[in-house]
Amino acid sequence: MAEFPKRIDCGDFELVKPVATFAKAQEFFDVVIKNKEFLSRWLEWTDFYSKPEDAYNYLKTIEPLNEPSYLIQVGGNVVGGHGFVLFSEKHKTAEIGYWLAPQFNGCGIVTRGIKYLEDLAFGQLGINRMQIKVDVNNVKSQAVAVRAGYKKEGIQRQSYVLRGVPCDVIMYSKLKSEWEKGKVK
Ligand SMILES: CC(C)(COP(=O)(O)OP(=O)(O)OC[C@H]1O[C@@H](n2cnc3c(N)ncnc32)[C@H](O)[C@@H]1OP(=O)(O)O)[C@@H](O)C(=O)NCCC(=O)NCCS
Repeated sequence: MAEFPKRIDCGDFELVKPVATFAKAQEFFDVVIKNKEFLSRWLEWTDFYSKPEDAYNYLKTIEPLNEPSYLIQVGGNVVGGHGFVLFSEKHKTAEIGYWLAPQFNGCGIVTRGIKYLEDLAFGQLGINRMQIKVDVNNVKSQAVAVRAGYKKEGIQRQSYVLRGVPCDVIMYSKLKSEWEKGKVK
């Protein structure tokens, strides 16, 4: 079974496996609540955060699991989330998901984070296909997928439901062979 590192050093930011402390839960909760309007447009899970205990319970649930979810931290403080929302060793396929506080948008953190996750998945953990699924109206996230060199495959019609409303998503992907070509450029 794939082992995911506890921390990935990305220079001016880091990807860290969540640790369930009250202090970290409070920090995580504060970022989500402060930016709820921005994040909730695309992320339904923000609806379930109304008190710090909700963040603590989330961190406590995923801490002991070998889950490929990371917090994005700048200067040791939580500013977002990044990682694999799907990771199938059997099918050699992984799907990336991410969110970032708006104050930290525009610095390439998520796009550069994808490169580190590709090095891990393609380079070390035997993944052959990475994919990113983005709502057809989520222009900023589509820009991330394109900037990271993912190929648009097409639209999956009404393939997920956001607060009861079926939505179309664009499927983007990158293959290991494409990642290898990109590395030698
Ligand atoms: C989607 C989301 C993560 C995009 O954040 P972002 O900051 O635009 O993306 P990145 O961190 O990759 O940064 C890219 C920006 O930094 C700039 N940038 C600066 N230095 C860069 C570098 N070294 N490398 C790449 N981009 C760089 C890019 O030009 C781009 O700016 P622009 O949008 O003005 O053109 C963020 O808006 C978000 O969390 N939205 C809400 C939740 C969400 O939609 N999640 C995704 C669901 S599919």
